[in-house]
Amino acid sequence: MIRFKNIVKKYRTKTIINDFSLHVEGGQLVVFVGPSGCGKTTLLKMINKLIEPTSGKIYVNGKDISTINSIELRRNIGYVIQNTGLFPHMSIKENLELIPKLKGEKDSAQITQKTMELMQMVGMNPEEFLHRYPNELSGGQQQRIGVARAFSTNSDIILMDEPFSALDPVTRGSLQEELFQMQKEYNKTIIFVTHDMDEAIKIADKICLLKDGNILQFDTPENILRNPANDFVENFIGKRRVWNNPELLKSRDIMIHNPVKIIPQRNVLQAIEIMKDNKVDSLLVTDKNNALLGLVTLKGIQLLKRNSIIGEIMERNVLSVRDDANLISVLFTMNEHKTGYIPVVNENNQLIGLITRSSILSALSSQLIDLEVTF
Ligand SMILES: Nc1ncnc2c1ncn2[C@@H]1O[C@H](COP(=O)(O)OP(=O)(O)O)[C@@H](O)[C@H]1O
Ligand SMILES: [Mg+2]
Repeated sequence: MIRFKNIVKKYRTKTIINDFSLHVEGGQLVVFVGPSGCGKTTLLKMINKLIEPTSGKIYVNGKDISTINSIELRRNIGYVIQNTGLFPHMSIKENLELIPKLKGEKDSAQITQKTMELMQMVGMNPEEFLHRYPNELSGGQQQRIGVARAFSTNSDIILMDEPFSALDPVTRGSLQEELFQMQKEYNKTIIFVTHDMDEAIKIADKICLLKDGNILQFDTPENILRNPANDFVENFIGKRRVWNNPELLKSRDIMIHNPVKIIPQRNVLQAIEIMKDNKVDSLLVTDKNNALLGLVTLKGIQLLKRNSIIGEIMERNVLSVRDDANLISVLFTMNEHKTGYIPVVNENNQLIGLITRSSILSALSSQLIDLEVTF
């Protein structure tokens, strides 16, 4: 959708961006995050040709933008900046309808209809606000209109440069939430610039972490938090994140890796021996491909005939969780089914681990110990 290819930007002799290449896929919300002065705004403004690169190319929908008329390009790309950029002498309605009209849309009933929808979308009552002027709105309300206007272009692409930075935390949180939902609903491609990692984590499909015009890491919020590429990233995100975001801990992080297993062809006597040897009171039953078939517990089998075949007496329909299920959902499942352990399987239903109360506790305490050493 948007491709930066070997972008270099120099101001006189100073290189601001040095050989920047990145591909932003369609329908994704990508957040550029990094300290002030690292080149975020410069990169964003290159996409709608407010700034020209010194060298390198940018492609939008496969088309080299240096070959597209700038005005035309900008009409097709929504752009939201910190102080909204609403025209002060136009009413909210006029501001929202400007771009459709500039684009030659004639059907005024249809334009009005669209304006109403946009107002609803950003949670503003049209009757109350459409005929006001921007300075008759609070900062948060103006910013909502700014977001609505970006969505009014009907463009697939929206660029947002620290749009919520000047807002109070509550307004900011609700706009982040709305943006997130709107993006999922309308499937726009959004590049969102911020210097605030918390904001990035809340809304991004992917985060591009920048420093001095270089990409330090480009990945999902989850992967960046779990595996920061280097010390700078780690400091930028802070260690306590996993602790603050328990949903980042996945089954695979909290499971025991080698749960004791048994094949279904064995009998009860052998199962009891295996339990004794391994000091466990249950065994997971798997076939030769390691697919999870069932479960036997000491309590459930100790009164059975010693030569009964495990495959015939095991409990089937064993509850399991996927390896990428998060801690919260695992706890929820365990609680709902009142169980103290739960097998972990991959997408092919192969057993890869076992979560127990004590494995959860040790995963959590290792996080905590990590924290205490760092801070
Ligand atoms: N017109 C300009 N002339 C010289 N330097 C500039 C100009 N515009 C921006 N810069 C410099 O480029 C760097 C990146 O700026 P910018 O993209 O605005 O950073 P960010 O948005 O990440 O805070 C900064 O060091 C800034 O001082
Ligand atoms: Mg900036």
